[in-house]
Amino acid sequence: MNEEKDILILAIESSCDETAAAVVRNGREILSNIIYSQIDLHTLYGGVVPEIASRKHIEKINQVIEKALAEAGVSLRDIDAVGVTYGPGLVGALLVGVAEAKAIAYAAGKPLVGVHHIEGHIAANFIEHKELEPPFLCLVVSGGHTHLVRVRDYGKFDILGRTRDDAAGEAFDKVARAIGLGYPGGPKIDKVAKEGNPNAIQFPRARVEDAPYDFSFSGVKSAVLNYINGCRMKGETFSQADVAASFQKAVTDVLVGNAMHAVEEFGVDKFAIAGGVAANSALRQAMAQACEDRGIKFYYPSPIYCTDNAAMIGVAAYYEYRNGTRHGWDLNAVPNLKLGER
Ligand code: KG4
Ligand code: ZN
Repeated sequence: MNEEKDILILAIESSCDETAAAVVRNGREILSNIIYSQIDLHTLYGGVVPEIASRKHIEKINQVIEKALAEAGVSLRDIDAVGVTYGPGLVGALLVGVAEAKAIAYAAGKPLVGVHHIEGHIAANFIEHKELEPPFLCLVVSGGHTHLVRVRDYGKFDILGRTRDDAAGEAFDKVARAIGLGYPGGPKIDKVAKEGNPNAIQFPRARVEDAPYDFSFSGVKSAVLNYINGCRMKGETFSQADVAASFQKAVTDVLVGNAMHAVEEFGVDKFAIAGGVAANSALRQAMAQACEDRGIKFYYPSPIYCTDNAAMIGVAAYYEYRNGTRHGWDLNAVPNLKLGER
Protein backbone atom coordinates (compact mmCIF):
# COMPACT_ATOMS: atom_id res chain seq x y z
CA MET A 1 0.00 0.00 0.00
CA ASN A 2 1.12 3.52 -0.75
CA GLU A 3 1.85 5.22 2.58
CA GLU A 4 2.15 8.70 1.09
CA LYS A 5 -0.92 10.85 0.84
CA ASP A 6 -2.19 11.56 -2.67
CA ILE A 7 -1.69 15.09 -3.96
CA LEU A 8 -4.65 16.44 -5.91
CA ILE A 9 -4.34 19.54 -8.09
CA LEU A 10 -7.25 21.45 -9.56
CA ALA A 11 -5.85 23.14 -12.68
CA ILE A 12 -7.23 25.98 -14.77
CA GLU A 13 -6.15 27.09 -18.26
CA SER A 14 -7.54 30.09 -20.15
CA SER A 15 -4.55 31.64 -21.95
CA CYS A 16 -6.04 31.60 -25.46
CA ASP A 17 -9.27 30.18 -26.85
CA GLU A 18 -9.80 27.07 -24.71
CA THR A 19 -11.53 27.31 -21.33
CA ALA A 20 -10.21 24.29 -19.49
CA ALA A 21 -10.10 22.68 -16.05
CA ALA A 22 -8.70 19.37 -14.85
CA VAL A 23 -8.03 17.36 -11.72
CA VAL A 24 -4.65 15.61 -11.58
CA ARG A 25 -3.52 13.04 -8.98
CA ASN A 26 0.16 12.80 -8.03
CA GLY A 27 1.25 14.66 -11.13
CA ARG A 28 0.72 11.85 -13.58
CA GLU A 29 -2.85 10.63 -13.33
CA ILE A 30 -5.62 12.63 -15.00
CA LEU A 31 -8.89 12.27 -13.07
CA SER A 32 -10.73 14.70 -15.35
CA ASN A 33 -9.85 16.93 -18.29
CA ILE A 34 -12.63 19.28 -19.39
CA ILE A 35 -12.07 21.54 -22.39
CA TYR A 36 -14.54 24.02 -23.76
CA SER A 37 -13.09 25.01 -27.14
CA GLN A 38 -14.10 28.33 -28.63
CA ILE A 39 -12.72 27.44 -32.06
CA ASP A 40 -16.12 27.53 -33.83
CA LEU A 41 -16.72 31.03 -32.50
CA HIS A 42 -13.39 32.40 -33.74
CA THR A 43 -13.58 30.58 -37.09
CA LEU A 44 -16.11 33.22 -38.16
CA TYR A 45 -13.32 35.84 -37.89
CA GLY A 46 -10.47 33.74 -39.29
CA GLY A 47 -8.52 33.80 -36.01
CA VAL A 48 -8.78 34.35 -32.25
CA VAL A 49 -10.48 37.62 -31.29
CA PRO A 50 -9.08 38.44 -27.82
CA GLU A 51 -12.11 40.28 -26.49
CA ILE A 52 -14.48 37.52 -27.55
CA ALA A 53 -12.14 34.94 -25.99
CA SER A 54 -12.18 36.76 -22.61
CA ARG A 55 -15.95 37.09 -22.62
CA LYS A 56 -16.44 33.43 -23.43
CA HIS A 57 -13.99 32.38 -20.68
CA ILE A 58 -16.01 34.39 -18.14
CA GLU A 59 -19.19 32.70 -19.30
CA LYS A 60 -17.85 29.13 -19.28
CA ILE A 61 -15.22 28.89 -16.58
CA ASN A 62 -17.44 28.03 -13.61
CA GLN A 63 -19.24 25.29 -15.52
CA VAL A 64 -15.97 23.81 -16.77
CA ILE A 65 -14.51 23.71 -13.24
CA GLU A 66 -17.67 22.21 -11.75
CA LYS A 67 -17.60 19.52 -14.40
CA ALA A 68 -13.91 18.79 -13.80
CA LEU A 69 -14.51 18.31 -10.06
CA ALA A 70 -17.65 16.22 -10.62
CA GLU A 71 -16.02 13.96 -13.18
CA ALA A 72 -13.05 13.41 -10.87
CA GLY A 73 -15.45 12.65 -8.04
CA VAL A 74 -13.83 15.15 -5.70
CA SER A 75 -14.80 18.37 -3.97
CA LEU A 76 -12.74 21.49 -3.31
CA ARG A 77 -12.08 20.15 0.20
CA ASP A 78 -10.09 17.23 -1.28
CA ILE A 79 -7.87 19.47 -3.41
CA ASP A 80 -4.30 20.20 -2.21
CA ALA A 81 -3.60 23.19 -4.46
CA VAL A 82 -5.05 25.23 -7.30
CA GLY A 83 -2.81 25.54 -10.36
CA VAL A 84 -3.39 28.15 -13.02
CA THR A 85 -1.72 29.41 -16.20
CA TYR A 86 -0.67 33.01 -15.55
CA GLY A 87 1.33 33.58 -18.75
CA PRO A 88 2.21 33.85 -21.52
CA GLY A 89 -0.98 34.42 -23.48
CA LEU A 90 -3.75 36.93 -24.15
CA VAL A 91 -3.94 39.20 -21.11
CA GLY A 92 -7.74 39.40 -20.91
CA ALA A 93 -8.04 35.65 -21.34
CA LEU A 94 -5.37 34.89 -18.72
CA LEU A 95 -6.98 37.28 -16.22
CA VAL A 96 -10.19 35.25 -16.18
CA GLY A 97 -8.37 32.06 -15.17
CA VAL A 98 -6.08 33.83 -12.69
CA ALA A 99 -8.95 35.68 -10.96
CA GLU A 100 -10.97 32.47 -10.81
CA ALA A 101 -8.08 30.43 -9.38
CA LYS A 102 -7.36 33.08 -6.76
CA ALA A 103 -11.00 33.26 -5.72
CA ILE A 104 -11.29 29.47 -5.39
CA ALA A 105 -7.97 29.04 -3.59
CA TYR A 106 -8.74 31.91 -1.20
CA ALA A 107 -12.25 30.73 -0.42
CA ALA A 108 -11.20 27.10 0.04
CA GLY A 109 -8.02 28.00 1.96
CA LYS A 110 -5.75 26.20 -0.51
CA PRO A 111 -2.33 27.19 -1.88
CA LEU A 112 -2.15 28.87 -5.28
CA VAL A 113 0.44 27.74 -7.85
CA GLY A 114 0.92 29.84 -10.99
CA VAL A 115 2.15 27.90 -14.02
CA HIS A 116 3.99 28.94 -17.17
CA HIS A 117 1.95 27.82 -20.20
CA ILE A 118 4.99 26.33 -21.99
CA GLU A 119 5.99 24.44 -18.86
CA GLY A 120 2.50 22.95 -19.07
CA HIS A 121 2.94 21.94 -22.71
CA ILE A 122 6.24 20.20 -21.88
CA ALA A 123 4.64 18.48 -18.86
CA ALA A 124 1.94 16.99 -21.15
CA ASN A 125 4.55 14.36 -22.00
CA PHE A 126 4.54 13.04 -18.40
CA ILE A 127 0.87 12.02 -18.61
CA GLU A 128 1.18 9.04 -20.92
CA HIS A 129 4.88 8.26 -20.44
CA LYS A 130 5.13 7.31 -16.78
CA GLU A 131 8.79 6.41 -17.19
CA LEU A 132 9.79 9.79 -18.67
CA GLU A 133 11.89 11.88 -16.30
CA PRO A 134 14.23 14.82 -16.89
CA PRO A 135 16.78 15.45 -18.27
CA PHE A 136 15.58 15.52 -21.88
CA LEU A 137 15.24 17.89 -24.82
CA CYS A 138 11.82 19.14 -25.87
CA LEU A 139 10.64 20.99 -28.96
CA VAL A 140 7.61 23.12 -28.09
CA VAL A 141 5.68 24.09 -31.21
CA SER A 142 2.37 25.87 -30.82
CA GLY A 143 0.37 28.78 -32.20
CA GLY A 144 2.35 31.28 -30.14
CA HIS A 145 5.69 29.56 -29.49
CA THR A 146 8.52 27.66 -31.11
CA HIS A 147 11.10 26.82 -28.45
CA LEU A 148 13.82 24.22 -28.30
CA VAL A 149 14.21 23.57 -24.58
CA ARG A 150 16.59 21.56 -22.44
CA VAL A 151 14.60 20.23 -19.48
CA ARG A 152 17.29 19.88 -16.82
CA ASP A 153 14.90 18.89 -14.06
CA TYR A 154 11.25 19.40 -13.14
CA GLY A 155 10.66 23.15 -13.50
CA LYS A 156 14.28 23.80 -14.61
CA PHE A 157 14.77 24.82 -18.20
CA ASP A 158 17.37 26.22 -20.61
CA ILE A 159 16.02 27.70 -23.81
CA LEU A 160 18.42 26.61 -26.55
CA GLY A 161 16.58 28.26 -29.43
CA ARG A 162 13.40 30.01 -30.40
CA THR A 163 11.70 31.51 -33.42
CA ARG A 164 12.89 34.91 -34.61
CA ASP A 165 9.53 35.76 -36.18
CA ASP A 166 6.40 33.62 -36.65
CA ALA A 167 5.68 30.63 -34.45
CA ALA A 168 5.35 27.33 -36.34
CA GLY A 169 1.60 27.15 -35.67
CA GLU A 170 1.17 30.75 -36.77
CA ALA A 171 2.80 29.89 -40.10
CA PHE A 172 0.44 26.92 -40.50
CA ASP A 173 -2.56 29.15 -39.75
CA LYS A 174 -1.47 31.92 -42.16
CA VAL A 175 -0.64 29.55 -45.01
CA ALA A 176 -3.94 27.70 -44.51
CA ARG A 177 -5.82 30.97 -44.79
CA ALA A 178 -3.89 31.94 -47.94
CA ILE A 179 -4.68 28.68 -49.72
CA GLY A 180 -8.34 28.84 -48.73
CA LEU A 181 -8.46 26.25 -45.95
CA GLY A 182 -9.62 28.57 -43.16
CA TYR A 183 -9.03 28.50 -39.39
CA PRO A 184 -7.53 26.70 -37.53
CA GLY A 185 -4.98 25.98 -40.21
CA GLY A 186 -2.76 23.34 -38.65
CA PRO A 187 -5.18 20.40 -38.58
CA LYS A 188 -6.54 21.33 -42.02
CA ILE A 189 -3.09 21.44 -43.64
CA ASP A 190 -2.23 18.16 -41.91
CA LYS A 191 -5.30 16.52 -43.51
CA VAL A 192 -5.07 18.01 -47.02
CA ALA A 193 -1.29 17.38 -47.18
CA LYS A 194 -1.96 13.63 -47.06
CA GLU A 195 -3.33 13.93 -50.64
CA GLY A 196 -0.42 16.04 -51.88
CA ASN A 197 3.20 15.65 -52.99
CA PRO A 198 5.64 17.06 -50.41
CA ASN A 199 8.32 17.40 -53.11
CA ALA A 200 6.12 19.22 -55.64
CA ILE A 201 7.37 22.70 -54.73
CA GLN A 202 10.73 23.57 -53.15
CA PHE A 203 9.94 26.09 -50.42
CA PRO A 204 12.91 27.55 -48.50
CA ARG A 205 14.33 25.95 -45.33
CA ALA A 206 15.57 28.94 -43.35
CA ARG A 207 18.63 28.78 -41.12
CA VAL A 208 19.49 31.56 -38.70
CA GLU A 209 23.17 32.40 -39.00
CA ASP A 210 25.25 31.70 -35.86
CA ALA A 211 22.14 30.46 -34.04
CA PRO A 212 21.76 26.79 -35.01
CA TYR A 213 18.77 26.22 -32.72
CA ASP A 214 16.78 29.31 -33.70
CA PHE A 215 13.98 29.23 -36.25
CA SER A 216 12.48 31.59 -38.80
CA PHE A 217 9.21 30.84 -40.56
CA SER A 218 8.34 34.17 -42.16
CA GLY A 219 10.40 33.29 -45.28
CA VAL A 220 8.59 30.04 -46.01
CA LYS A 221 5.26 31.75 -45.38
CA SER A 222 6.15 34.55 -47.87
CA ALA A 223 7.38 31.98 -50.38
CA VAL A 224 3.98 30.25 -50.27
CA LEU A 225 2.18 33.58 -50.73
CA ASN A 226 4.47 34.47 -53.68
CA TYR A 227 3.90 31.08 -55.23
CA ILE A 228 0.11 31.34 -55.15
CA ASN A 229 0.15 34.98 -56.29
CA GLY A 230 2.41 33.93 -59.20
CA CYS A 231 -0.05 31.20 -60.18
CA ARG A 232 -2.96 33.61 -60.02
CA MET A 233 -1.16 36.24 -62.13
CA LYS A 234 -0.43 33.64 -64.78
CA GLY A 235 -4.07 32.58 -64.66
CA GLU A 236 -3.01 29.13 -63.49
CA THR A 237 -4.61 27.10 -60.75
CA PHE A 238 -2.51 25.50 -58.03
CA SER A 239 -2.91 22.26 -56.14
CA GLN A 240 -3.98 23.01 -52.56
CA ALA A 241 -2.76 19.56 -51.52
CA ASP A 242 0.69 19.98 -53.12
CA VAL A 243 1.18 23.43 -51.58
CA ALA A 244 0.05 22.15 -48.16
CA ALA A 245 2.30 19.07 -48.36
CA SER A 246 5.33 21.01 -49.64
CA PHE A 247 4.92 23.75 -47.01
CA GLN A 248 4.49 21.16 -44.24
CA LYS A 249 7.63 19.35 -45.43
CA ALA A 250 9.66 22.58 -45.45
CA VAL A 251 8.63 23.39 -41.85
CA THR A 252 9.10 19.82 -40.67
CA ASP A 253 12.58 19.57 -42.22
CA VAL A 254 13.74 22.64 -40.29
CA LEU A 255 12.15 21.54 -37.00
CA VAL A 256 13.68 18.06 -37.28
CA GLY A 257 17.05 19.40 -38.49
CA ASN A 258 17.54 21.88 -35.65
CA ALA A 259 16.19 19.51 -33.02
CA MET A 260 18.48 16.65 -34.06
CA HIS A 261 21.45 19.00 -34.21
CA ALA A 262 20.75 19.83 -30.54
CA VAL A 263 20.22 16.16 -29.67
CA GLU A 264 23.67 15.34 -31.07
CA GLU A 265 25.36 18.39 -29.58
CA PHE A 266 23.98 17.81 -26.07
CA GLY A 267 24.27 14.04 -26.23
CA VAL A 268 20.82 13.36 -24.80
CA ASP A 269 19.05 10.03 -25.11
CA LYS A 270 15.46 11.33 -24.77
CA PHE A 271 13.64 13.77 -27.01
CA ALA A 272 10.04 15.02 -26.73
CA ILE A 273 7.70 17.28 -28.67
CA ALA A 274 4.84 19.36 -27.29
CA GLY A 275 2.28 22.04 -28.23
CA GLY A 276 -0.48 22.18 -30.83
CA VAL A 277 1.80 21.58 -33.83
CA ALA A 278 3.15 18.45 -32.10
CA ALA A 279 -0.19 16.91 -33.13
CA ASN A 280 0.95 17.15 -36.77
CA SER A 281 1.18 13.67 -38.27
CA ALA A 282 4.06 14.44 -40.66
CA LEU A 283 6.11 16.04 -37.88
CA ARG A 284 5.50 13.11 -35.53
CA GLN A 285 6.51 10.65 -38.23
CA ALA A 286 9.65 12.55 -39.23
CA MET A 287 10.76 13.02 -35.60
CA ALA A 288 10.10 9.36 -34.80
CA GLN A 289 12.30 8.33 -37.74
CA ALA A 290 15.06 10.80 -36.88
CA CYS A 291 15.12 9.60 -33.26
CA GLU A 292 15.11 5.96 -34.31
CA ASP A 293 18.03 6.61 -36.68
CA ARG A 294 20.00 8.02 -33.73
CA GLY A 295 18.92 5.31 -31.29
CA ILE A 296 17.24 7.75 -28.88
CA LYS A 297 13.80 7.58 -27.27
CA PHE A 298 11.07 9.75 -28.75
CA TYR A 299 8.10 11.00 -26.70
CA TYR A 300 4.96 12.79 -27.82
CA PRO A 301 1.58 13.38 -26.18
CA SER A 302 -1.76 12.27 -27.66
CA PRO A 303 -3.28 15.07 -29.76
CA ILE A 304 -5.73 16.02 -26.97
CA TYR A 305 -2.75 16.80 -24.69
CA CYS A 306 -0.85 18.64 -27.48
CA THR A 307 -3.37 21.44 -27.96
CA ASP A 308 -4.31 23.62 -24.99
CA ASN A 309 -5.74 21.76 -21.99
CA ALA A 310 -5.69 22.01 -18.21
CA ALA A 311 -4.42 18.47 -17.52
CA MET A 312 -0.93 19.52 -18.61
CA ILE A 313 -1.17 22.60 -16.35
CA GLY A 314 -2.10 20.32 -13.45
CA VAL A 315 0.94 18.13 -14.09
CA ALA A 316 3.27 21.14 -14.19
CA ALA A 317 1.57 22.63 -11.10
CA TYR A 318 2.15 19.36 -9.20
CA TYR A 319 5.91 19.49 -9.77
CA GLU A 320 6.00 23.23 -8.96
CA TYR A 321 3.99 22.52 -5.79
CA ARG A 322 6.47 19.80 -4.80
CA ASN A 323 9.34 22.21 -5.46
CA GLY A 324 7.73 24.67 -3.06
CA THR A 325 6.32 27.19 -5.52
CA ARG A 326 3.46 29.19 -3.97
CA HIS A 327 1.97 32.38 -5.35
CA GLY A 328 0.35 35.15 -3.33
CA TRP A 329 -3.09 36.69 -3.63
CA ASP A 330 -1.47 39.40 -5.74
CA LEU A 331 -0.71 36.97 -8.60
CA ASN A 332 -1.33 38.76 -11.89
CA ALA A 333 -1.53 37.71 -15.53
CA VAL A 334 1.84 38.13 -17.30
CA PRO A 335 1.22 38.09 -21.08
CA ASN A 336 4.93 37.82 -21.98
CA LEU A 337 6.09 35.65 -19.07
CA LYS A 338 9.53 34.09 -19.73
CA LEU A 339 10.07 30.38 -19.20
CA GLY A 340 11.83 29.75 -15.87
CA GLU A 341 10.73 33.12 -14.38
CA ARG A 342 8.85 33.14 -11.08
O1 KG4 B 1 -0.83 24.68 -28.20
P1 KG4 B 1 -1.95 25.33 -28.89
O2 KG4 B 1 -3.33 24.73 -28.74
O3 KG4 B 1 -2.09 26.83 -28.49
C1 KG4 B 1 -1.01 27.67 -28.23
O4 KG4 B 1 -0.45 27.61 -27.11
O5 KG4 B 1 -0.67 28.43 -29.17
O6 KG4 B 1 -1.55 25.37 -30.44
C2 KG4 B 1 -2.43 25.81 -31.42
C3 KG4 B 1 -1.70 25.75 -32.75
C4 KG4 B 1 -2.48 26.38 -33.91
O7 KG4 B 1 -1.62 27.22 -34.64
C5 KG4 B 1 -2.89 25.17 -34.74
O8 KG4 B 1 -3.05 25.46 -36.11
C6 KG4 B 1 -1.74 24.22 -34.48
O9 KG4 B 1 -1.43 24.40 -33.12
N1 KG4 B 1 -2.09 22.82 -34.74
C7 KG4 B 1 -1.52 22.07 -35.70
C8 KG4 B 1 -2.17 20.81 -35.69
N2 KG4 B 1 -3.12 20.85 -34.69
C9 KG4 B 1 -3.04 22.09 -34.12
N3 KG4 B 1 -0.54 22.36 -36.58
C10 KG4 B 1 -0.18 21.40 -37.46
N4 KG4 B 1 -0.77 20.19 -37.52
C11 KG4 B 1 -1.76 19.84 -36.67
N5 KG4 B 1 -2.32 18.64 -36.72
ZN1 ZN C 1 -0.65 26.34 -25.86
